[in-house]
Amino acid sequence: MLIRKPDRILGSEITPETVYYNRRQFMAASSAGLASLALPTIAKAGLQEDDEITPEDIVTQYNNFYEFGTDKSDPAAFAHEMSTDPWSVTVSGEANKTGTFAFEDIIKGLDVEERVYRFRCVEAWSMVVPWMGIPLKDVLAQFEPTGNAKFVEFETLYRPSEMRGQQGFFSSIDWPYIEGLRMDEANHPLTLMVTGLYGKELPNQNGAPWRLMVPWKYGFKSIKSIVSIRFTEREPLNTWKQLQASEYGFYANVNPAVSHPRWSQASERRLPSSLFNVNRRPTLPFNGYADEVAHLYAGMDLRKYY
Ligand code: MTE
Repeated sequence: MLIRKPDRILGSEITPETVYYNRRQFMAASSAGLASLALPTIAKAGLQEDDEITPEDIVTQYNNFYEFGTDKSDPAAFAHEMSTDPWSVTVSGEANKTGTFAFEDIIKGLDVEERVYRFRCVEAWSMVVPWMGIPLKDVLAQFEPTGNAKFVEFETLYRPSEMRGQQGFFSSIDWPYIEGLRMDEANHPLTLMVTGLYGKELPNQNGAPWRLMVPWKYGFKSIKSIVSIRFTEREPLNTWKQLQASEYGFYANVNPAVSHPRWSQASERRLPSSLFNVNRRPTLPFNGYADEVAHLYAGMDLRKYY
């Protein structure tokens, strides 16, 4: 289900599909389409001169969604087996308004925006994606988190009958997939709850009906198909940290200066990438969003809090 206000003009609508992926068109379209929004600087934040929108078929067919398998092609092949309607979300912990809510009721009345973000996976590939979504702070505010809420924890659907990667003993992941943010990260205007991409409904393999998008962090923070939101005093134990704490941390801020123990994070392969055209480019601190977010980590040792 695609939810947006009829008066919103998308970057993907003002330019014909054929020229949409042309860089200059895309930059012009983005700024024209998004200038009507209150946050033009946010809408264009992070994008570099030579960033081009990644072709849609790559974004929807080269995925990480381990609930459906570990191959990049598994989510596109199997995620249709997940039913997303009805979809309910449990809100718990340090908030005044807790309980189980229908997804439609949570997002009703909230504005959907298009945001073109750079997206960097910890595996050192990257994309540029026109997401549609709602600032997470607007989603969370309606639950009235209390002063004790220092973090927010998210959980993905656990339904082995529809998610084949959750079956059997092949996976070492302790389901459900869990992620979390500090409240100031969650309330940052760049942090988006995504409900669509390329002007369309969010495909199941990309995390329907809604998933997180935190553009300055490695992709694994951007948890998909969320069914639980919990406000906590303590830092949540996220799935990848639980799996291998020496390799994946809680913060996971994109940082070219801190290598993964098994590979460098200094550069990335911008998809599409091939043997003949690797399309390698330097990785930027905070994935290009340092001006917007570096202050959140002032005084922190980013080698320790990776
Ligand atoms: N969320 C869940 N529930 N399960 C996952 O396996 N993979 C993460 C993140 N969110 C993952 C997830 C990783 S490693 C990445 S890089 C992104 O989703 C990939 O998002 P995309 O497939 O839309 O590109």
